[in-house]
Amino acid sequence: MSTSGREASRAPGARLDLRSASEDERWELLRSRAEALAGGEALDVEDRQDPRPLLGRIESAHPGTFEAVFRASGPGRYRLEVRRRPPDAAHLVSDTFGREHRRLVGLMEDVEHLARGGAFELAAACYKEFRCGLARHMLVEEQVLLPEFETLPGGSHDPCAATKQDHIVLRRAFDAMAETLRRHELEHFLSAMRAFVEVWGEHNLREERVLFPAIDEARDERARAELLGRAMCF
Ligand SMILES: [Fe+2]
Ligand SMILES: [Fe+2]
Repeated sequence: MSTSGREASRAPGARLDLRSASEDERWELLRSRAEALAGGEALDVEDRQDPRPLLGRIESAHPGTFEAVFRASGPGRYRLEVRRRPPDAAHLVSDTFGREHRRLVGLMEDVEHLARGGAFELAAACYKEFRCGLARHMLVEEQVLLPEFETLPGGSHDPCAATKQDHIVLRRAFDAMAETLRRHELEHFLSAMRAFVEVWGEHNLREERVLFPAIDEARDERARAELLGRAMCF
């Protein structure tokens, strides 16, 4: 298990439970608690409703200041980590999405570790968080990053087509891994996971070497901040 992955996926933060708050209270509570965060600090938020409209409001109020990671995404239960960016950190797609790759790899390693130890219920819960994170990650790449890449001068359609094709393959593998965990079938789970990771590892490398740097190089700091803000709220 990678220490960096585990740290990235398990970093502790302050908590905010919005499940019994009114509509007005939800925004005021999130705004005040997020504004009180120091650079690099995070808030673990739990809600019954989809919190993306709140993320949109906080991005409008403080453009480029926060980033968010979804740990559970409904229906009826949402968990997200809202982090204030360090004040001097540049807005780079490579940093934000590369960090998300490492967080997700860490979660998958946790799933494997738990399954190998026979803790299938915990492994399934961890896998659920992994799947939520990767499903959203791929959706944001398809709806926000790839359209941006295709508008770049010289931006080829080829890496986008390959990325979308990989996403189809990865999504197809989700159910098989969930089912083997549910049935406590370790060898079948490991086999499905190895096939998944083989595609996923190459996929992440291509994104980190081609897609993300191309956008970072072509866009200035302001445009990258706006792009990452849209990605957070998507
Ligand atoms: Fe991807
Ligand atoms: Fe990715």
